[in-house]
Amino acid sequence: MATTTQRKVLITGGAGFIGSNFVHHWVKTYPQDRVVVLDALTYAGNRSNLADLESHPHLRFVKGDICDRPAIDYLLSEETIDTVVHFAAESHVDRSILGPDAFVRTNVVGTFTLLESFRQHWNSRRQPQDDRFLHVSTDEVYGTLGPADPAFSETTPYAPNSPYSASKAGSDHLVRSYFHTYGLPTLITNCSNNYGPYHFPEKLIPLMCINILMGKPLPVYGDGQNIRDWLYVGDHCSAIDRVIQRSQPGETYNIGGNNEVKNIDLVHMLCDLMDELAPHLPVRPAHNLITFVKDRPGHDRRYAIDASKIRDQLGWEPAVTVSEGLRQTVQWYLAHPDWWRPLLSPEYQEYYKAVYA
Ligand code: NAD
Ligand code: DAU
Repeated sequence: MATTTQRKVLITGGAGFIGSNFVHHWVKTYPQDRVVVLDALTYAGNRSNLADLESHPHLRFVKGDICDRPAIDYLLSEETIDTVVHFAAESHVDRSILGPDAFVRTNVVGTFTLLESFRQHWNSRRQPQDDRFLHVSTDEVYGTLGPADPAFSETTPYAPNSPYSASKAGSDHLVRSYFHTYGLPTLITNCSNNYGPYHFPEKLIPLMCINILMGKPLPVYGDGQNIRDWLYVGDHCSAIDRVIQRSQPGETYNIGGNNEVKNIDLVHMLCDLMDELAPHLPVRPAHNLITFVKDRPGHDRRYAIDASKIRDQLGWEPAVTVSEGLRQTVQWYLAHPDWWRPLLSPEYQEYYKAVYA
């Protein structure tokens, strides 16, 4: 498919971490495309992530819920949407342990609602073959790996271990079934851990950066030996772009950074970067703040992604190394206290107490 095709793109969850990075990526790469962002602005959604695009002539922001079928029907038709990039989700494992309900509602029922609405819309448009529905999913659907296991590939059986990953697995199965049953031109991507600008403070990397800046303990779960495969968010965005532009409907691609790092090593890297880059730190060296805390229930030990399919079929590879990406990320958090300070709200403090007390 030509990369120059002009699209009318609906981006769900476009005010969240990856979604807002993707909106920036798409608007910059395809300035003529119509981009509609649909986001419910939950605690994780933040209009200010898109502040610099407020007056963009081709961008529209709609506050709305992916479970609201009439609103979605209206939007798809009003905007004659041909491409859906679906990021909207409840995304944090610890919150799914505290309260799984919202995860089933948004991730399963919300994805189902979008699929049904898009199916009706696509049929009413006489099933254009260039339309796409790309569902953004996670490597967590594959479960956990032992130290010597091969990395997750697209044929690894699903074995989700948290309510979050189970709800994402449910949504992946629905998306898959809409291709096989109705021929809907769906795509699924399963990506490893992202990091970068606009990452909400509940997740490991921003939480550690902010706690270092505030001189608060750095809570490392369990023995800190769990492994994640880290990918800079800009690389995730370019991979999704590549899949939309080049792949055949019905395909699924794993996306990863080839950067397996133990949590404790990652936290030390962040401490070292902060020691080097932050002019004032309440506690220096920052690693004195590291505190081992009770493990996350059901904590997956290791994730690793085999991204050879997207590399071989679509020519995508990550461009940012973990050391470059972490340096850029630390610099971004240092430069943007006005972005993250308001997020440490009373609701966030309640959440923090519930997980870490
Ligand atoms: P996030 O929590 O930062 O953002 C989620 C966004 O979805 C928020 O803007 C929120 O307001 C919106 N949203 C939530 N419920 C909604 C609803 N019912 N209707 C409309 N909007 C709603 O999440 P993220 O980290 O940016 O993740 C985005 C997607 O990527 C998710 O589907 C997640 O499963 C997937 N993913 C994330 C990672 C990662 O490392 N963060 C890795 C792989 C895949
Ligand atoms: O693998 C992709 C997934 O990555 C995405 O699907 C999820 O949406 C995203 O949240 C992320 O899930 P993780 O659970 O891996 O990310 P998190 O940042 O919460 O934790 C990363 C690791 O760090 C994990 O092993 C748990 C550990 N951790 C996390 C926090 C918040 C700690 O040790 N201490 C902490 O305070």
